Amino acid sequence: MVKEYIEKNRARFLDELFQWLRIPSISADSSHKQDVRRAAEYLRHQLTAAGVDSVQIFETKGHPVVYGEKIIDTALPTVLVYGHYDVQPADPLELWDSPPFEPVVKDEKIYARGSCDDKGQVYMHVKAFEVMSKLDLLSCNIKFMVEGEEEVGSDNLGDFVKQNKGKLAADIILISDTALISLEHPSITTGLRGLSYMEVEVRGPNRDLHSGVYGGAVANPINTLCTMIASLHDTSGKVTIPGFYDKVIELTPDERHALNKAPFDLQHYKRDLDIGEIKGEENYTTLERTGIRPTLDVNGIWGGYTGEGAKTVLPSKATAKISMRLVPDQSSAEITALFTNHIESIAPPYVSVKVTAHHGGEPAVTATNSASFRAASMAFKDVFGKEPIPTRDGGSIPIVALFKKELGLDTVLMGFGFDSDAIHSPNEHYGVKNFMLGIETIVAFYGHFHKIKS
Ligand code: BES
Ligand code: MN
Ligand code: MN
Repeated sequence: MVKEYIEKNRARFLDELFQWLRIPSISADSSHKQDVRRAAEYLRHQLTAAGVDSVQIFETKGHPVVYGEKIIDTALPTVLVYGHYDVQPADPLELWDSPPFEPVVKDEKIYARGSCDDKGQVYMHVKAFEVMSKLDLLSCNIKFMVEGEEEVGSDNLGDFVKQNKGKLAADIILISDTALISLEHPSITTGLRGLSYMEVEVRGPNRDLHSGVYGGAVANPINTLCTMIASLHDTSGKVTIPGFYDKVIELTPDERHALNKAPFDLQHYKRDLDIGEIKGEENYTTLERTGIRPTLDVNGIWGGYTGEGAKTVLPSKATAKISMRLVPDQSSAEITALFTNHIESIAPPYVSVKVTAHHGGEPAVTATNSASFRAASMAFKDVFGKEPIPTRDGGSIPIVALFKKELGLDTVLMGFGFDSDAIHSPNEHYGVKNFMLGIETIVAFYGHFHKIKS
């Protein structure tokens, strides 16, 4: 019955999602502020149309939060669904095969910015609610909290959560904003990495200089910054910041063995990325390198002349954005402090450095022995015919640790994207099948969660 309803309404579901995807809700870009709001309003409208009660737009210091709920019986379990309706910037635009905000279906995949991360995945929940409402299958109370600042660090969501603890009271949090291994190998994410995001500015001479007149006699800030960055890893791929690994929880051999049992095809991985070899911390597998190990990466670096042709210049400053992915029990504030001290300590006397911290977030590991995890496992088994594999994802959803801390609640990470869906990249896409099966799995989840809890 559920499957039939979803199939019958497939075209409309996609059409509604496409209208949402057409709104460029880029939270990082202030020129899109009104678009972000329009995306919030569209969601409010769709949640209301699906039967959710008193859906409201809550203002924050930044972009608004959309909140609505359906309380059918206070004696029943309550699930709080979280997601985000903001998206990453779409540039570089010239690398998209079709415009990022004009969704199209090609090879059974929806191409658009936000198709997978996270509008497409949030919309599965909206439609799962409609299905349950229309087929009289609602068996849990459901609350929706969908924010517009996830891609810029959820700066104001912490306040919203702290100020609305009563409203947000629930038994568990349910999030679809992560990845599946494949449709043949369904999986549930059981861990996310944390983040410390930094900016380093290196200043040399008080102005750009002629690189012939001064070159060789005055330190070049770009050269110096590159040397400093190069020193942040040793030859075995470890981060050299003193104390960086102190709080890292090493997995037991059994835990590592379990993690590495997940299917992983190295040839396919390399082919997908057009790389000849992989590279990472010695003595760890790829799944471990992205799942349970902390990292440091330069996200952007600039300075000097980058325009057309050649300009002989010795620049006065250079800047880099550097992020570190964290694992339990590293803390974002501690790593930020270690990084800052270390960069200041390795800065040579011929430059001055300024270190600025951007957003951060804590790593999270979710429970696998909980009623909600069991319900999610059974739901995947129902729809995909296979027991889902627990996986650790490399990305970050900082709010997961905050939910635990502020509301005492565990999260189930039931994501339906693929790592290869090109989230944050040109040509982001999301399988139509993933979307449809996701709706079905979410409906099944509520049924099992209700049964286990009562
Ligand atoms: N949905 C992603 C996180 C993600 C992606 C988790 C894939 C697991 C698998 C989320 O929207 C995201 O991009 N988060 C940011 C962090 C944020 C603080 C900007 C990230 O991971 O870079
Ligand atoms: Mn996301
Ligand atoms: Mn994202």
